[in-house]
Amino acid sequence: MDYCNKKYCLITYGCQMNLHESEKLGGILSEFGYTETKDVKSADIVVFNTCCIRENAEKKAEGNIGALKSLKRNKKDLIIAVGGCMTQQKGYAEKLVEKFPFIDIVFGTHNLEDFKELLLRKSENVKHVISVSEGDSRIKEGTPKMRSSFPNGWVNVNYGCNNFCTYCIVPYVRGREKSRSVDSVISECKELIDNGYKEITLLGQNVNSYGRDLGDVDFADLLGKVSELDGKFRLRFMTNHPKDLSEKLIRAICESDKTCRSIHLPLQSGSNRILKLMNRHYTREDYLREVELLRKYMPDIAITTDIMVGFPTETDEDFMDTLSLVKKVKFAGAFTFVYSPRGGTPAAKMEGQIPEEISKRRIMELIDCQNAENRRQSKEYLNKTIEVLCEGFDKKKNKFLGRDTYGRMAYFSGVEGLIGKFVNVKITKTGGMSLLGEIVDIGE
Ligand code: 5AD
Ligand code: SF4
Repeated sequence: MDYCNKKYCLITYGCQMNLHESEKLGGILSEFGYTETKDVKSADIVVFNTCCIRENAEKKAEGNIGALKSLKRNKKDLIIAVGGCMTQQKGYAEKLVEKFPFIDIVFGTHNLEDFKELLLRKSENVKHVISVSEGDSRIKEGTPKMRSSFPNGWVNVNYGCNNFCTYCIVPYVRGREKSRSVDSVISECKELIDNGYKEITLLGQNVNSYGRDLGDVDFADLLGKVSELDGKFRLRFMTNHPKDLSEKLIRAICESDKTCRSIHLPLQSGSNRILKLMNRHYTREDYLREVELLRKYMPDIAITTDIMVGFPTETDEDFMDTLSLVKKVKFAGAFTFVYSPRGGTPAAKMEGQIPEEISKRRIMELIDCQNAENRRQSKEYLNKTIEVLCEGFDKKKNKFLGRDTYGRMAYFSGVEGLIGKFVNVKITKTGGMSLLGEIVDIGE
């Protein structure tokens, strides 16, 4: 098959892990000679990298896959591939090709690195190439990457999850925790810095448990080692589990001048009864103690979180416990979700599923509460000058954008060549989460 002048279009749903995996798919397709297009209609291959954490993520992907039916009818050579978390669910791949017979390739989360072989198999005129391995694969190093987020580089540190929170499908579709070796992580980070990247985000479903399968190293050690690399760059990491946040790690964050003063620490609920049902292994008191410890070492640290409402049996009282904790902690930002039952998880079978109207009312109240806090924190930025890493240009706003060490986004006018530079920005206007400012000076 001649792959020259062929184009690929990648459509990604879900978390940063998925976005990074799409960078790997892009890398594999580029090695094959494909170039990227954002326009589905001009693509020779469309790859969906899917998410199944909530039902709406799945519905959205299925809707967009279905919409390609007529394109495929008019363009017989078009290859349509679907991979990621959605396809890794038991029995799902077969159901998917039954529902959408025009799909050519289905691949699971453990088969991404084999995408090249799957493409070759497809070129041998196989109708549907399905590759969804059960169980855990070994970590495959050396997959090429088509990075799409300069000056930020994502680096996987561990894959999978052993926690089995009762609402969550991730352990079923991502398998057990596996850590990359320290050397692999360090050499990837070094390569990024040598190539001018200014921010590294260490990625894992639970980075705090990095190294548990390796034995002689933990995430605090890894963070320390990455911080020691030469050059001016920022270090972030996500995501964390409160049960695994040690004082050693807090100290490591504090002692590293490269690590940003922000941490994402998913709370999920402020009710001890619900936390227990969720199998989270901490209480609201434990969570508050961690917040206190983080702030003892770093009084200014920005703490962001994930919160869910409407978990089975959640009462108004449980929800009030969540709300009171949110008010107490004063998060720098929160992702809020309505609980969505996922097939195969224990919570989906629990009695006491919460009616949608109740969950909606609760989430609105939660969002209002957090929005008020966001506005209050934003106001504190007024007239301050902050160091921002310029990350991109927002065409709609006609402004450059970037974040400070606390993860707060600022927009500002500037000239070309700013992306990838540290700039000092004086904040002149504040809104909900974002800030507007003017450049004071441009650094490295
Ligand atoms: N329903 C709603 N939200 C969920 N999350 C995980 N599983 C579910 C579910 N079944 C949320 C959690 C997690 C974030 C990534 O997604 O808050 O931290
Ligand atoms: Fe899901 Fe819990 Fe694992 Fe996070 S820690 S991926 S919420 S099972």
